Amino acid sequence: MAQKDVGNKIPIYKLKDTDEVMKYYDEWGDGNKYDKDMVDWNYTGPIETTKVFSEFQKNKDAKIYDAGCGTGLVGVELKKYGFKNFHGADLSKKLLELVPNDLYEKLEQVDLNKPINKKDDEYDSVMCVGTFTFGHVKPPALEEFIRITKNDGFICFTINEGIHEEYGFDKKIEQLKEQNKWKEIKFFKSDYIASKDVNAWLGLYQVIK
Ligand SMILES: C[S@@+](CC[C@H](N)C(=O)[O-])C[C@H]1O[C@@H](n2cnc3c(N)ncnc32)[C@H](O)[C@@H]1O
Repeated sequence: MAQKDVGNKIPIYKLKDTDEVMKYYDEWGDGNKYDKDMVDWNYTGPIETTKVFSEFQKNKDAKIYDAGCGTGLVGVELKKYGFKNFHGADLSKKLLELVPNDLYEKLEQVDLNKPINKKDDEYDSVMCVGTFTFGHVKPPALEEFIRITKNDGFICFTINEGIHEEYGFDKKIEQLKEQNKWKEIKFFKSDYIASKDVNAWLGLYQVIK
């Protein structure tokens, strides 16, 4: 898969470690540039995922963990569908500061490549949009998402098409199916950042416990 870029100052596929990624997003948040770029690029990840998610997660009181929430674009969409109880977690303090006030019930700075500091079955569902991409969060996080999600809960995510196989997301997703840890509800190539010719796999899986 060719390494496509979205035209930011550092090519995203060059990001290798967590410190680099944190710095990259902290700087991208300056002057609200991240949100402005997402509008300019017609980034549809939050819209596409939340639409699919809301077709299956019918309980508007569901407690949702937004993993890699950034500036809160997924929270904005969740609110439009009537969800009100969602928590956000992200690596970048700068982006967390840009989340609109009172949108999320709780916001936390986390490294999702480490065990998540939440109890088993703490959430009804997990959203993770734009966060499985070059140098960002790796496949073991999917196991953590399952651990913190209740039986029958949903995990909805995107995976940048450029890392799906390279980082082993394809194998991890299959393994979790074979181990009966989740079942596939949807898995398809979504638009994501079609204006930059960058697409993402969109998955919706239901947790089995
Ligand atoms: C492309 S942005 C997506 C943000 C938001 N979900 C959206 O759709 O606008 C990727 C996000 O992943 C976060 N991120 C990258 N590595 C991370 C890590 N190891 N732990 C937690 N968040 C991480 C970044 O800080 C950034 O906010």
